[in-house]
Amino acid sequence: MNFPIRRMRRLRKSPQIREIFRETKLNKEDLIYPLFVKKGLKNGEKEEIATMPDEFRYSVDDAVKYAKKLESKGLKAVIIFGMPLENEKDEVGSPAYDKYGIVQETIRKLKKETNLVVISDVCLCQYTSHGHCGIVKTKNMRNKENIENEILNDESLKYLAKIAISHAEAGADIVAPSDMMDGRVIAIREALDNNGHENTLIMSYSAKYASSFYYPFRDAVCSTPSFGDRKSYQMDPCNSKEAIQESELDVMEGADVLMVKPALAYLDIIKDLKNSFNHPIAAYNVSGEYSMLKSAIANGYLTEEAIMESLISIKRAGADLIITHFAKDILDDL
Ligand code: PBG
Ligand code: ZN
Repeated sequence: MNFPIRRMRRLRKSPQIREIFRETKLNKEDLIYPLFVKKGLKNGEKEEIATMPDEFRYSVDDAVKYAKKLESKGLKAVIIFGMPLENEKDEVGSPAYDKYGIVQETIRKLKKETNLVVISDVCLCQYTSHGHCGIVKTKNMRNKENIENEILNDESLKYLAKIAISHAEAGADIVAPSDMMDGRVIAIREALDNNGHENTLIMSYSAKYASSFYYPFRDAVCSTPSFGDRKSYQMDPCNSKEAIQESELDVMEGADVLMVKPALAYLDIIKDLKNSFNHPIAAYNVSGEYSMLKSAIANGYLTEEAIMESLISIKRAGADLIITHFAKDILDDL
C-alpha cells in the first residue's frame, strides 16, 4: 500500500503514540558502570582523570561509597579496574593476583555492603612493568636496536587463571578477561571449577579490537605498553569474520557472556554477534567514546541528548548489556 493510504508519520504523531511504538528502550539494568580504584589513595582524595571529564580514581572506601550512591539510583552492576602502586609492578603482574590487592579488597567490600553484581576485569596490563596484557619474552638481546618482544600466549594463561581465582575468592560474581590470549576462557573456566568456583560467570571480551579509542583509559590507569602495541593480540579493526570466530571459540571454551569492544565504531559487529549466538551480548562503550562526547558537550558542539542517542544505538544493534561511564550521568533519566 502506498501514499496516500499509507502514511508513516501517523506512527510519529504525538509523544504518546511514539512512546507506545518505541522498539528499543534503555533500562537501568542494562548498564554496567566501570569503577577505577587506586592503591595508595587516601579516603576523600579522589583523583581527577585528565582525559576523562567527570571521572575519578578512588580509594577502596570511596569507590564503595560512590557505588552505593549509584545503587540507590538503580544501578545493578559495576566492573572494577585496579591500579597497584607503581613500585609493585613486575614482569609477571604479581599485584594482580594478590589476595589483598586493590581489586580483591574492593570486591570484598562491595559484596559485603551492596547488592550490586560485581564484575572484575581480568588482565595483566595494569600490573606488569611493561604494560602488556601477557607475559613478555625478549629476544635478540645482542643488538639493542634489534630487540624483539614476543607476548607469550600459553605462558600468560596461568597468570590470568590465577587472577580470576583470586577475584572469585574475593567474591566476584563475574570475571571478565580482557587480554585476548588464545585459550584464556577455558584456562579460566578450568581453574575456577578446580577451585570450587563453578558458579562464577565468565564474561569474555570475545571481540576486542586494537583500538585508538582506549587512549583515555590507558591514561586513566597508566597501562600504556612501554614498547610496541597490542596489535599482536587484539583484533584488527578491518576484520569482522574474525569477531565471530573469536566468539565461537569463547563459547566452546565456556564463556557465559560475549562482548564487543569498542561499541560505537563496531555496531555492525554487535549485530553480527547478536545474530550468530544465543548468548547474552555485552558492548563496551569505551573511554574514548565517552570523552569524545563529554568534551563536545562541554564545548557546546553537541547537547546532552547525544549521550542517550548513542547508547540507544548500541542497544538497538543488539547489546543486552552496556558497559559505560555514562551510567552515572543517565540513571536519573531512566
Ligand atoms: C586492558 C583494558 C583496556 C580497556 C579495558 N581493559 C585497554 C587496552 O586494551 O589497552 C579499555 C577500556 C576503555 O577504553 O574504556 N586490558
Ligand atoms: Zn590488558
